Amino acid sequence: MPAGRPEFGDYQANGIMGAAKRMRTNPRELAAKVLDDLELDDIADSIEIAGPGFLNIRLKPSFLSEQLTDSPLLEIEESAKRVVVDYSSPNLAKEMHVGHLRSTVIGDAVARTLELAGHVVIRQNHIGDWGTAFGRLLAFLDDIGDKALQDAELRNIEALYVEASQKFESDSAFADRSRAMVLALQAHEPNAIAKWEHFMALAQEHMSDVYSRLDISLQPQDTRGESAYNAAIGPMIEDLQKKDNVLVESDGALCIFMPQFKNKDGEIQPMIVRKSDGGYLYHTTDLAALRYRQQTLFADRVLYFTDARQILHFEMLFAASRLAGIVSSDVMLEHHPFGKILGDDGKPFKSRSGENILLRDLIDEAIERANALIHQKNPYLDEEQRHTIAQTIAIGAVKYADLSKNRLHDYTFNWDEMLAFDGNTAPYLQYAYARIAGIFEKGNIDITQCTASPRLDLEVERQLAVYLLRFQEVVEQVVTDAKPHYLCSFLYELTVRFMRFYEQCPILSEEPSIKDGRLTLCRRTAETLNTGLGALGIKVLERM
Ligand code: ARG
Repeated sequence: MPAGRPEFGDYQANGIMGAAKRMRTNPRELAAKVLDDLELDDIADSIEIAGPGFLNIRLKPSFLSEQLTDSPLLEIEESAKRVVVDYSSPNLAKEMHVGHLRSTVIGDAVARTLELAGHVVIRQNHIGDWGTAFGRLLAFLDDIGDKALQDAELRNIEALYVEASQKFESDSAFADRSRAMVLALQAHEPNAIAKWEHFMALAQEHMSDVYSRLDISLQPQDTRGESAYNAAIGPMIEDLQKKDNVLVESDGALCIFMPQFKNKDGEIQPMIVRKSDGGYLYHTTDLAALRYRQQTLFADRVLYFTDARQILHFEMLFAASRLAGIVSSDVMLEHHPFGKILGDDGKPFKSRSGENILLRDLIDEAIERANALIHQKNPYLDEEQRHTIAQTIAIGAVKYADLSKNRLHDYTFNWDEMLAFDGNTAPYLQYAYARIAGIFEKGNIDITQCTASPRLDLEVERQLAVYLLRFQEVVEQVVTDAKPHYLCSFLYELTVRFMRFYEQCPILSEEPSIKDGRLTLCRRTAETLNTGLGALGIKVLERM
């Protein structure tokens, strides 16, 4: 593993202590034996035994230099897997708001990173497009008249939903009509379905618009919402009924009992697959979706990105699907939860008036702020250039602020922090990239031609080289753990090392034998930043 501190070398082997314990021998003696047998002369300058039995390894400049010029940025995974990534998945009775941001941004980064590593990624946008909320909405649209649906485009779906819910609470005749609408939808009554389709088309247009502005790679064909599984649920239940000891009837409902899920009183909490009134639940649809993902999409791995409130839902879903034989044991099922976004006050991030912040408003504000910032830094840019740069910086900043934190924790949304040009932020990394691009522009050099071996005489150069060669292992970590903050930390540390190198090592003014190698370091850094940020869904800029 990478060494904890530079004075320990570049890499550290710390498995010897554990091995010595199991072999009941002295760890330092074992370390000495290992050292004797190691043949790393071509790779390492020095290997030292340290502490209770660590091996500290310092890589040879010649080895580093060779790797930098000969090895590709990334070796493509040979045993590519088919990975289904279920993310974003908003409930579309409401407009997309800040509560949908993390799943969308984190899921997209992981999907892109998996693809970069060579896996086959199948994105699934499991939108909420069915259920009682739609009864209310459609009944409400009926009430406000025919033109409403056309006009709804101009109106705010969020406001519609709020009004419909209020009316549902206060007007019992309306509540009855809403329920009747739900039944009509379930019965696939053409009139109701037509209204629903019309509404969904509109809601999906809004969604696509948010994705394209946020530069999210989900496409319309990736959407397979809850409604898509309606027809499959009946046959699935029939199948499950044929199996022994899977479905159990309890008070008229069909349930799966799993002894590991108990409530506070120690009673088994069943997973209800079909309610006594014949209705299905969120997890019923998810069981059907899993079946589809195994049988039709041939998934090797299925990843879900939702907030931590759904941890129990997924634990039960996975256990039930194994028990019921819906997925085979070699398919990996993974829920990757995340914490909340908090405001400065430490409470969930909301607007001043306490409402959900809509994503389109959040994007507008990000761009506005970035625009003002760029104007301040560089007043001579023309309007159009400034706008393009502002957009790239704004979207990068919002995404990176989220991605750079361990997703398991809550994080505080702070505009000034995320838009800062120094520290672990997207603008800092984008700025470093633009700086490198500037070197090539100034020297009028074709970046693709820079393949000379760097000499790495200075420690800052060597440190940068060591870091550049770590990209592969970091990408693999993100692929395994679905935690993009590993990649963010890496890119940040890389940039810090590049800046140190850049401050201490002249480039264009050097004689060719030094200059050319340093340009290779610049090229490789630029490529790593471009590819790494790209895997996070963030664009670089040639100029800022
Ligand atoms: N629509 C759900 C929500 O907004 C998230 C769906 C996640 N995916 C799934 N297959 N359950 O909470």
